[in-house]
Amino acid sequence: MNTDTPHLSPAQIYQRLLGYVKPYWLVFIASVLAMLVSAATETSLAAMMKPLMDGSFVDRDPTIIKLMPIVLIGIFLLRGAASFLTTYGLGWISRNIVKNIRAEMFQNLIGLPTAYYDHNTSGQLMAKLIYDVEQVADATTRAILVLIRDSLTILGLLAWMFYLNGKLSLIILITAPLTALLVYKISYRFRRLSKNIQQSVGDVGHISSEVIKGHREVKIFGSQQYEYYRFEQINQRNRRQMMKMISTDATSQPIIELISVLGLAGVIYFATRPEMLEQITVGTFISFITAMFMLLTPIKRITKINSGLQRGIAAAQSIFSLLDQQSELDTGSYKLAQAKGDIRYDKVSFIYDEAKGNVLSNVSFHAKAGQTIAFVGHSGSGKSTLVSLLPRFYHPSSGTISLDGINITDFPLADLRQHISLVNQQVILFNDTIRNNIAYGTHDNIGDSDIITAAKSAYAWDFIQAMPQGLDTLIGENGLLLSGGQRQRIAIARALLRNTPILILDEATASLDSKSERHIQAALDNLMQARTTLVIAHRLSTIEKADCIIVIHNGHIMESGTHAELLAKKSHYAELHRLQFQDSPA
Ligand SMILES: Nc1ncnc2c1ncn2[C@@H]1O[C@H](COP(=O)(O)OP(=O)(O)OP(=O)(O)O)[C@@H](O)[C@H]1O
Ligand SMILES: [Mg+2]
Repeated sequence: MNTDTPHLSPAQIYQRLLGYVKPYWLVFIASVLAMLVSAATETSLAAMMKPLMDGSFVDRDPTIIKLMPIVLIGIFLLRGAASFLTTYGLGWISRNIVKNIRAEMFQNLIGLPTAYYDHNTSGQLMAKLIYDVEQVADATTRAILVLIRDSLTILGLLAWMFYLNGKLSLIILITAPLTALLVYKISYRFRRLSKNIQQSVGDVGHISSEVIKGHREVKIFGSQQYEYYRFEQINQRNRRQMMKMISTDATSQPIIELISVLGLAGVIYFATRPEMLEQITVGTFISFITAMFMLLTPIKRITKINSGLQRGIAAAQSIFSLLDQQSELDTGSYKLAQAKGDIRYDKVSFIYDEAKGNVLSNVSFHAKAGQTIAFVGHSGSGKSTLVSLLPRFYHPSSGTISLDGINITDFPLADLRQHISLVNQQVILFNDTIRNNIAYGTHDNIGDSDIITAAKSAYAWDFIQAMPQGLDTLIGENGLLLSGGQRQRIAIARALLRNTPILILDEATASLDSKSERHIQAALDNLMQARTTLVIAHRLSTIEKADCIIVIHNGHIMESGTHAELLAKKSHYAELHRLQFQDSPA
């Protein structure tokens, strides 16, 4: 899944960005008006040259001599106020846009299907949220500011020049198409480079986040050099792309200036011809030349802003491609206030990836309300996949899954999920207090007494109590300050508090010493009471009491029955059981 395919043309992107500006149109118009004032003051500076020269030096007009300094101060005061208004107004708009786009991206992100996360790294996604959005901010302020204010300035100055002398002004205009062509060519290159730069910023984010999360692995495998090398390559690529951008920018600047100066030289040549000199006064001449020199700066800025603008477009493209991702399919409308927990899988097949074929084929089973169904099977046989279909993390490619007799796709996602608790293979906790981690996802006001009861049933209260800050203890990113077994018990307490009719347990008892395992087993027994439970456990001892044990092999149901039935059959399960108890005498 390539998420950055440009599916929008630059024109469409502008249009969409403009949509974000819409709510702030009043401020926008005020800013544009202020820019108009800025441009007018600029032109009036050039215009002042004429009376200044003719009035003071040629005619020696005393009123003009007295007036000029005051007018000058006045113009600059006006200019200052206008400049403040523009910068502040546009800045305000752009920061609001950034906030809105970020919020929209975040909201969209948490609603995306699980498969999207499988195919995009967290570093890449974070780069979009952090880097790309800032690029758009830049395009919407600086670029728009320059684009509008400087175009107005150029227009004002040109108008003044035409007013002074039409023929001379025409010479300047001849250079315009040449400049336009050049700018057009460069834009394309800028946009392409910007896309590469974004990608490389994403890669930087990706590798660093992997190394930060996996720092223990990096240390124990001594792979610092390797990671450094990997990072260095991406870092280099980022620098190379940046340099290409800079060199394009650096070459285009002097070329555009050269074109402008050609026009300037032409004007000076023609203006100083004797027949021309007779027509114009000193004031007109100076004023014209001043206006012309004043044109250079905004022209330069406008062509320079191109890179920022193109960066903004490329970034907006990446942002919109995220925003346009289909969120999870959620069309159901059937509400179920209280589920009984009767679950039925009917000929369910599933494919992650067409090339790899079926991960699950024709799986059917029935869990009556309150029953415990256990799944065993080799690693990679499809157990986790099977249970992940129930909360609709993925959708069966064929077959149906029903809850209380109703197809699960008929429920709104949130409604379906509110009936399910999940204690996963990897326990995920949040960097927050123990209290908030246990109460995570409970919407009503949960009191400490409920939390403590849950913690006690989860055999977690003893260690929580022993901590100096008790429930207020902060547990670090992903609960890193807790032991593995403690983390699991927090996860169990969380599920207990949530108190849903359905529970999914994925190998919650793996890799623990026997004392912790006894604790956790006891906690799980509490949790599984009076709930429909789908449990995956590699430790067969934990599922002997299950109502039904289903052996999964390569995505098929190989056999099923109670512990006693399966043992009596001398089946595959019996073999697994024999092996495990041989390997690990408990
Ligand atoms: N997100 C995914 N995208 C693509 N393929 C996947 C994904 N998750 C798992 N698979 C593949 O699907 C198959 C079943 O994986 P699954 O995680 O369901 O196995 P499992 O029975 O839970 O194994 P284990 O006992 O090791 O946890 C494996 O071959 C795996 O490579
Ligand atoms: Mg698994």
